[in-house]
Amino acid sequence: MDLFEYQARDLFESYGVPVLAGIVADTPAEAKAAAEKIGGTVVVKAQVKAGGRGKAGGVKVVHNGDDAATAAEAILQLTIKGLPVNRVMVAQGARIAQEFYFSVLLDRANRSYLSLCSVEGGMEIEELAVERPEALAKIEVDPIAGIDLAAAKAIATAGGFPAELVDKVAPVIVKLYEVYKGEDATLVEVNPLVLTEDGQILALDGKVTLDENAAFRHPNHEALEDKAAADPLEAKAKANDLNYVKLDGEVGIIGNGAGLVMSTLDVVSYAGERHGGVKPANFLDIGGGASATVMANGLDVILGDPQVKSVFVNVFGGITACDAVANGIVQALEILGDSATKPLVVRLDGNKVEEGRAILRAANNPLVTLADTMDEGADKAAELANA
Ligand SMILES: Nc1ncnc2c1ncn2[C@@H]1O[C@H](COP(=O)(O)OP(=O)(O)OP(=O)(O)O)[C@@H](O)[C@H]1O
Ligand SMILES: [Mg+2]
Repeated sequence: MDLFEYQARDLFESYGVPVLAGIVADTPAEAKAAAEKIGGTVVVKAQVKAGGRGKAGGVKVVHNGDDAATAAEAILQLTIKGLPVNRVMVAQGARIAQEFYFSVLLDRANRSYLSLCSVEGGMEIEELAVERPEALAKIEVDPIAGIDLAAAKAIATAGGFPAELVDKVAPVIVKLYEVYKGEDATLVEVNPLVLTEDGQILALDGKVTLDENAAFRHPNHEALEDKAAADPLEAKAKANDLNYVKLDGEVGIIGNGAGLVMSTLDVVSYAGERHGGVKPANFLDIGGGASATVMANGLDVILGDPQVKSVFVNVFGGITACDAVANGIVQALEILGDSATKPLVVRLDGNKVEEGRAILRAANNPLVTLADTMDEGADKAAELANA
């Protein structure tokens, strides 16, 4: 789960990372009040979970409440990288002398943590990594030992900080690692980390990703979830413990096993080229135990997508045999009753395939078409979606 900048700011503050005052505002009037409360120069910043806000016009420096309201009004109308700006943060203005970069993240490939650090901040880190890779230090962090003051100094030194700055920045790096560890984050990034004209180190912008697998250890993380932004179908699927991802297409997909579902998406996309360019509408893996309830919940979510015109159920019977899956489909259609109105193409293969097909044939539901192969099923489903 990615956090908004203002949430990262609040977390940083609670761990003693030096940050400036910041108040969120949903309206220009709130932005004005926030600017007046903070006083002096403030920065109005778009709160979206995307980088490059500055370039998109989402970061504006102003000097009084009225200008903060005007800036907020403009920023609240922006869409940055496809994300609407619903909220701004009014942050106290810093007098920046120098901008730096620091992050610590989970390094899956090496089963370790990695910290990135550079005395050259300000520019987008992806650009720096390409154009001047030697300026960006990549230091492995031992997950057991973590980052103590000595390790923090080594990281800052590798990042090119001069000795007098190393001593200033290292304690902040230690605190940022405490956030990373303490919150079970997979990313803590500060860009820019700055040195102010009066010699303070401050985290001016923070990006934090929390590990949802560790949510049980952090009851407070649930409140950080952006429920408004979640796709309603994805939210419903999540509530039913389904692995569902909404896509932009017309053919609903249900399969068992992530690999099978991924290849089903490919085959349906390919078939769609022959049928008016229809595309898969979702990823949905109902997993190994495809009980009737799981099938019904899955179908319910998919049929709730107004874009969906047909559904392709592609199941390979293994531990859960095809007869159980077929019973699941029949019962699911009974459970859903009148709300099931879209044609279903079912391809079953594997354990007890004949029994499974016999069950579907016997049920004789007019919505259901049987397909012998995956290609045939994909083609039929695409054809029905295009009808
Ligand atoms: N509180 C502040 N005071 C003064 N200047 C600021 C402040 N916050 C941001 N800035 C300036 O604006 C620039 C862009 O801000 P910020 O890093 O928050 O946004 P961004 O880089 O566009 O967003 P992202 O990091 O998500 O890509 C910073 O590099 C800094 O120069
Ligand atoms: Mg930034």
